[in-house]
Amino acid sequence: MKISVIGTGYVGLVTGTCLAETGNEVVCVDIDAEKVQKMKDGEVPIYEPHLDVLFDRNLKAKRLNFTTSLEEGLQYGEIIFLALPTPEDEDGSADLSYVLGVADDIGKKISEYKVIVDKSTVPVGTSEKVKEVIQKNAKCDFDVVSNPEFLREGFAVDDFLKPERIVIGSSSEKAIELMKKLYKPFVRSGNPIIVMDEKSAELTKYAANSFLATKITFMNEIANYCEKVGADVDMVRRGMGTDSRIGKRFLFPGIGYGGSCFPKDVKALHKSGREVDYDFQILDAVIDVNQKQKTILLPKIQAFFNHQLKDKKFAVWGLAFKPETDDIREAPALYLIDELLKEGAEITAFDPEAMDNVARKYSDHITFSKSMYDTLDGADALIICTEWSIFRTPDFGKVKKSLSNNVIFDGRNLYDIQDVENEGISYYSIGRKD
Ligand code: UGA
Repeated sequence: MKISVIGTGYVGLVTGTCLAETGNEVVCVDIDAEKVQKMKDGEVPIYEPHLDVLFDRNLKAKRLNFTTSLEEGLQYGEIIFLALPTPEDEDGSADLSYVLGVADDIGKKISEYKVIVDKSTVPVGTSEKVKEVIQKNAKCDFDVVSNPEFLREGFAVDDFLKPERIVIGSSSEKAIELMKKLYKPFVRSGNPIIVMDEKSAELTKYAANSFLATKITFMNEIANYCEKVGADVDMVRRGMGTDSRIGKRFLFPGIGYGGSCFPKDVKALHKSGREVDYDFQILDAVIDVNQKQKTILLPKIQAFFNHQLKDKKFAVWGLAFKPETDDIREAPALYLIDELLKEGAEITAFDPEAMDNVARKYSDHITFSKSMYDTLDGADALIICTEWSIFRTPDFGKVKKSLSNNVIFDGRNLYDIQDVENEGISYYSIGRKD
């Protein structure tokens, strides 16, 4: 099939590349000429495991193509994916100006039947708005489909190629058949393609992300409570997670969720509720608790150093909002670092992928190290903010030798308490006995 993808951000690029991988001919459109040229030259603009291999293969096979011309993109595909940004407005709602702007062009420029697929995370009712905007100028037949993505950063290629489910929101039989044909190669294992109306599909995405954010936040509160009563959240997590109704995943407490999706989507759903006079009280609490959770290590650090953080030197392992990404949007590490800097502390950090992104934001305030162990030179304490695999089995002997105060504050519960304490290092983590 001929496919166009408008927008080559993380979702658009993964979608375009993976659709080319199953033999479709794909044209990806972006307004950023420099980025388009780089992609044409074989450069993948984002860090996403395995994407480079697929990108390279499909680019060379000429199934994956790039252009800055929206007109070319709109003429090309039988199916046109909109993978455009929906940034958070000042009031927490999703800004639809990119999506509706392109919809306006679609109406003016298409001259034969097209399926317009909304892949961006958009509020309930957006498909209807897109349809209305296209309809204003359309000279031919078209359908609008809501097809939310459930890709996790760091696993996006795998999630696209082997999805647990595909959600298609549409009221047009013709569009549904085309979408099913397109996705057939990805659901050979029998995972479902769930067809529903557009609004339900749009809400499915917000509901899924908000539920997961709530699950994590609930566990964070249980962890905080464990500390008060002397229980161990690791045990509680295992005890709960074996109940198949609860499930083992997304029960890991820590210093809060971050990233470009959960924080934005929870706020947007909360805001959309308000617009129809519905108060999502549970989401209000999730937003509030998560914000506090990002700096939950601070009181432990302050208590350890008797509230004297001025000129204390902290080594920080992990800056990205989670492992396997260089994304630092809403990263808990940065909130904690901000608080430590305010108290006059000095920070030396290491992250396998995210240091360049952080350097752009904090060039004068944070020192970066080439390796995790280099951060420890002259440091008083080690703080762990992201659970990169490389941090999971450190040489504790080396850590102890370098830290002047022999203490680790771990925001991701990476180690057995006993293992660390046997090394003669004090260890503070989340929801476990300190
Ligand atoms: C999330 C969803 O998992 C995807 O299904 C969805 O498609 C995507 O948002 C999106 O809307 O585009 P992502 O933001 O890449 O994916 O990251 P997750 O792996 O879900 O992690 C989100 C945050 O939750 C991270 O900060 C992570 O550290 C935190 N988390 C996750 C926990 O604190 N505890 C857990 O047990 C799991």
